[in-house]
Amino acid sequence: MLQEEKREITAYSIYHVEQKKRTKINPLEDIYPELPEKKYQVIYADPPWDYGGKMQYDKSTIKEENKGFEKKIFISSAAFKYPTVKLNQLKELDVSSISANDCLLFMWTTGPQMANAIELGEAWGFEYKTIAFVWDKMVHNPGRYTLSQTEFVLAFKKGRFPQPRGARNIKQMVKVRRGKHSVKPIEIIDGITKMFPEQQKIELFARNNYAGWDNWGLEIPDKKIAIKTTEDIVKNTKDIFGEQQVLKFD
Ligand SMILES: C[S@@+](CC[C@H](N)C(=O)[O-])C[C@H]1O[C@@H](n2cnc3c(N)ncnc32)[C@H](O)[C@@H]1O
Repeated sequence: MLQEEKREITAYSIYHVEQKKRTKINPLEDIYPELPEKKYQVIYADPPWDYGGKMQYDKSTIKEENKGFEKKIFISSAAFKYPTVKLNQLKELDVSSISANDCLLFMWTTGPQMANAIELGEAWGFEYKTIAFVWDKMVHNPGRYTLSQTEFVLAFKKGRFPQPRGARNIKQMVKVRRGKHSVKPIEIIDGITKMFPEQQKIELFARNNYAGWDNWGLEIPDKKIAIKTTEDIVKNTKDIFGEQQVLKFD
């Protein structure tokens, strides 16, 4: 085989270079910012699941980030948007230190992360109960099995149901067209707020300040931590990673 043929441009060869440049790095010395010294009866978490560097199709960011690529390739990854965290490190987050004796945990997960989510909720001291919400994103992604267009919020319980309870008529199915990558519909936190209006509540891995909730994470609007990319950190990246290659579809 000719040397040239061996260096054939594939989606992977492009992704590999892009991955090195765009992967977001956690700037903290410890993995996590400090958790509050407070107990909560309701915890809502959207963990930065690690997909092992897997490529995703993400049409929502094609204009901004995929300049230079032909239309048919949408190279993206959760790790290009924020630092991702492996399951064993997620388990190290001391959620039991902030959970009241009677506490509910609502945790976002995707189909591929379902088993990990149950394992994580249990590692944090909760018992898996049910799927509290199904988000129909109304747009499908390619999927290896079926075209995928849903994400899930699992409910876990520790002790008894926090009392008093509020609304009992919140629907499991939430049909809201997906927006930007990883942004979850406000209808879900709003539904949980109606279910438990009087409890102490915290959103973990939050990116918003939602009224009535404490929040924690790297990207809290009024105390954002500067997340960098590999490219920001490594100098002379062009020399290290080489020129960006462009796939051609003729
Ligand atoms: C899936 S996103 C949350 C999206 C959010 N629910 C929304 O609707 O916009 C995960 C979040 O966890 C944050 N994160 C990543 N690593 C973290 C860490 N080590 N400690 C705290 N937060 C982290 C990311 O920066 C990101 O904001």
